[in-house]
Parts: sequence; structure tokens; C-alpha cells
Amino acid sequence: MRGVILAGGMGTRLRPLTNVTNKHLLPVYDKPMIMHPLNTLLKAGITDILIVTGKGNAGDFMKLLGSGHELGCRLTYRLQDEEGGIAQALSLAEHFVGNHKFVVVLGDNILADDVSEAIRSFETSDEGAVVFLKEVPDANRFGVAEIKGDRLVGIEEKPAKPKSNLAVIGLYLYSPSVFKVIKTLKPSARGEYEITDVNNHYIKKGEMGYRILKGAWADAGTFESLYRASTIARQSKKN
Ligand code: DAU
Repeated sequence: MRGVILAGGMGTRLRPLTNVTNKHLLPVYDKPMIMHPLNTLLKAGITDILIVTGKGNAGDFMKLLGSGHELGCRLTYRLQDEEGGIAQALSLAEHFVGNHKFVVVLGDNILADDVSEAIRSFETSDEGAVVFLKEVPDANRFGVAEIKGDRLVGIEEKPAKPKSNLAVIGLYLYSPSVFKVIKTLKPSARGEYEITDVNNHYIKKGEMGYRILKGAWADAGTFESLYRASTIARQSKKN
């Protein structure tokens, strides 16, 4: 299976840290941020990986990661010209992915769990897509799952009144049909092509699976969560 890391966007919520470098190159404990989601993929045995970055600092990603040879993987790079949202960044992976199921991880997501098993089970399942859910105290910051019984019936992006405390984390498993879905999307009120719209499409069709994440997780998009991401990375290293 192939992997895609989405590391476009400006990281405006982290200014002034991001005034002179890209959010995904900031330190998270002992490594630049992007190396953590990269390790999540490597731990799962995924070694053919596409990195989507914005234009600013694109060369720095290559300077850091190179061809991937030293990390034991093969890296391909693509540029996202504008910041049109996560689904738009994902659309750039179409040719790289071809006809295979694949894994997407957001470049600011730090996970303690080994997700190899979940990925393997998706490969042989007839699910069209899978999202990972994590209980959080501040669900309104994320995509939030609505669960009825044990069924995932919808996801709301950053709702004022979350219907659960289960955040949809930035790790997604898709089949290649996702590229057709993205082409049907319209930009949201904030002008972005939303990954939540993609996921709701699979939910409506009855093709979405979900897994509950057991270990610690943070997205490092705010000062507090960046700090927490470092403590998670530190703890994972000690274990
Ligand atoms: O971290 C999990 C959350 O990520 C989910 O719960 C939300 O449903 C999902 O929309 C997303 O929310 P954020 O507000 O945290 O997304 P953000 O704009 O911070 O982007 C997260 C990553 O996605 C970022 O580190 C790089 C990538 N990205 C984002 C945008 C807007 C791109 O590659 N291109 C983009 O245009």
C-alpha cells in the first residue's frame, strides 16, 4: 500500500513560529514535525510515500528528507499551489496512488499507536474508506463523529455543539474512488475543499468504516497542541 502525507497550508495559528519556516518543519520533541507522521507510515511498513507541500520552504523538505533512501523509503514530492483545503491537497495524489487502496496522514498529526493492523484489515475489507476516532475534551476544534448504536452516521466539521467527544483524527484510509468523490465537492463556507465532506459521502453510501484510536494523539496546529505533541513524542520514545 502507498502512503500520502499532506503538509501544505500556512500554519497561521502558529505565528510567529511560522513566520520564517513551515509548520511541518518545527520541532516536535526530537524531530521536525513531519518526521512523526512519516514514522507512523514507516512503522506500518509503508515505504512508497508522497509528500504534498506548499510552495514556501518546499526545498527545505527535500533537504531534510531527501529521496527517503536514508530512512528506508521512497519519497515523491508534489506542490499544492494554493491552500484550497485538505481534500484539494489530496486530489494531487491521484496519479501517485493509481488503482490501490492507500493511507493518508496529515503532516501535523502525532500518534503514539502502531496502526499496522488497522491498515492491513482495511486492505482486505470491502470498506471504501476508514476514519480513526479519538476521545477528546475539546471536540469543537475537530471533525466530530456522530455515533448511533455502533454506527457512524455523520461527521460535523468544528461544530459549536459537538454530538460526541470523538474527534476524527488526521489519519484516513481510502480506496481510489476518493478522487471521483473529491471532483464532486464544492468549497465550504471557509473556502476550502473539506475532507469531512469526502468522509460524509462514504458514510451516506454505507461504505465507511471506523476504528477507535487507543493511544495518545495530538494535531500540532496550535501552541497548546504543539506542546502536547512534544510530550507524546517524548513518552513514545521512552516506551
Ligand atoms: O487533525 C485532525 C483535524 O484536521 C480533523 O479533525 C478535521 O476534520 C480536519 O478538517 C483537520 O482540521 P484542521 O483545522 O486541524 O486542519 P488544518 O487546516 O490545520 O490542516 C491540517 C493539515 O492538513 C496541515 O497540517 C497540512 C494539511 N493541509 C491543510 C490545508 C488547509 C494541506 O496539505 N493543504 C491545505 O490546503
